[in-house]
Amino acid sequence: MEVKSIKERHTELTMHSVKFAKDEQGRRKGQEILFKWPDIEKQLGEHKHIYVVDARLGSNNHTHRLWYDVIPPHTEEGQEWRTLGHRHTVEAIIYFLKGHGHSIIDGERYDWGPGDLLSVPMFSWHRHINDGDEPVLRIASTTGPLSLALGQAVYEDERYPEFWIYAQEGEDARKTLIPGGGGKLDNGKIPGNRTAELYAEQVAFAMHEEQLRRKSKVLVKQKDLVFEPTAMGKLAYVVDPRIGFHSKALGVVMAEIPAGKRSGAHRHLYDEINLIVGGKGKVIVEDKEFNFDTLDVLSIPVFQWHQYFNTGSEPLRILGINTRLAMDNLGLSLTHQGEHADYV
Ligand SMILES: [Fe+2]
Ligand SMILES: [Fe+2]
Repeated sequence: MEVKSIKERHTELTMHSVKFAKDEQGRRKGQEILFKWPDIEKQLGEHKHIYVVDARLGSNNHTHRLWYDVIPPHTEEGQEWRTLGHRHTVEAIIYFLKGHGHSIIDGERYDWGPGDLLSVPMFSWHRHINDGDEPVLRIASTTGPLSLALGQAVYEDERYPEFWIYAQEGEDARKTLIPGGGGKLDNGKIPGNRTAELYAEQVAFAMHEEQLRRKSKVLVKQKDLVFEPTAMGKLAYVVDPRIGFHSKALGVVMAEIPAGKRSGAHRHLYDEINLIVGGKGKVIVEDKEFNFDTLDVLSIPVFQWHQYFNTGSEPLRILGINTRLAMDNLGLSLTHQGEHADYV
């Protein structure tokens, strides 16, 4: 076995950091971009829950993932859920394509149908129930990969209490939206002591965060989306902290492009996944072109120019789920606007 000197080993580690960005650029150029609905549909026939864009399946997406699933009529996700459902330390967006039902999120009921969207507050217990005679078809996107990379991915599921790490500690631990939280707050404030005040704020942070999550918007009805012209074309912000959500990682927009028109072109330092909600078209990603149809999924690589063209006769609607907010909070966000859309 080759034994490396300390100097060689540590020089290698330094060069790993130095080379990473260039290597990553190569991975972005080589990553899979288009996921076709007919392939996904075939897999959904065999298993009701299919991961589509997922780093564990070879995707180069580091911060979020997307899966499709079907909830059969008059059942619920996680067939044996009866009380709590599950909760997780990842942000989650769910978009309903077909069927009708309701969700119980942190004890509140939300009724939904096709075109509606849920932004599930972090670590809130939730269940999703199909109330209709038709299967519910939906997609979900979560920041699972980001939380796993941070070593803070917690999934507590009613069916698997043996894997709980907080909920078993009692009622307070089960009710809180903060992993490890619950119980009485002792922030140790000492009047006139600035350092103790700063520390008290640190201790109070989680409780404050929990209140903000409970006040946050959860359900977006399709009919409430407000589309307005932008450099990228007609856009509606769907989930964003500037419109009432307490999201820290996942943002959502909906774009609409009329028949024969094109969006603007842009690139950005965050991961983006697109669901084609209606219509058909073409996307140019740097020097490559992909044709897509309704229900196809696109994974847009970080910092590659992309622009969409409606090649059909119906309006093209694209749901864009991105981790811009996570990058904003890391101080790493950047969006470059190129050519503007050719319509208003
Ligand atoms: Fe969930
Ligand atoms: Fe984009």
